[in-house]
Amino acid sequence: MDRKEFIKTSCTGVCVALGSGFIMSALLSACKTPLGVIKTAAKDNNVIIPLAEFEHTDYKLVRVNNYNYDLAIQKKEDGTFRVLVMMCTHASQPLTKTGNSYFCTLHGSQFSNTGAVLKGPAEKNMIELPSRIVSNNLTIKLNTSI
Ligand code: FES
Repeated sequence: MDRKEFIKTSCTGVCVALGSGFIMSALLSACKTPLGVIKTAAKDNNVIIPLAEFEHTDYKLVRVNNYNYDLAIQKKEDGTFRVLVMMCTHASQPLTKTGNSYFCTLHGSQFSNTGAVLKGPAEKNMIELPSRIVSNNLTIKLNTSI
């Protein structure tokens, strides 16, 4: 089979597969929640995340209902957690996780995985929220002034 025929055959197969309702449904549902994102609600400005969420990973993104920014939660080597607000401290733009750092698409600021400014124009580090372990849960106190 030559290259042209292979592409034609492959594309036809993919198009047929994408056309089926089952495949489309599965793809769409997979797009709703990115891997590693926990959706939850706050109660009395506290967010509670079961520690079991970190059994197989040291990093989770948390999306809290009615909170303006996602939270990046990192389990540290000593067993404690770092909770960073995914907000650029330059002009409050939501940040994007890029590999081992955070990037602001508005003016290009970059922050390390600990929230420290790597590149401006932002001058302040990312906001870290207090957290503590209670029973088998991580309790995060939201900063409601953000
Ligand atoms: S808002 Fe992020 S760099 Fe300006």
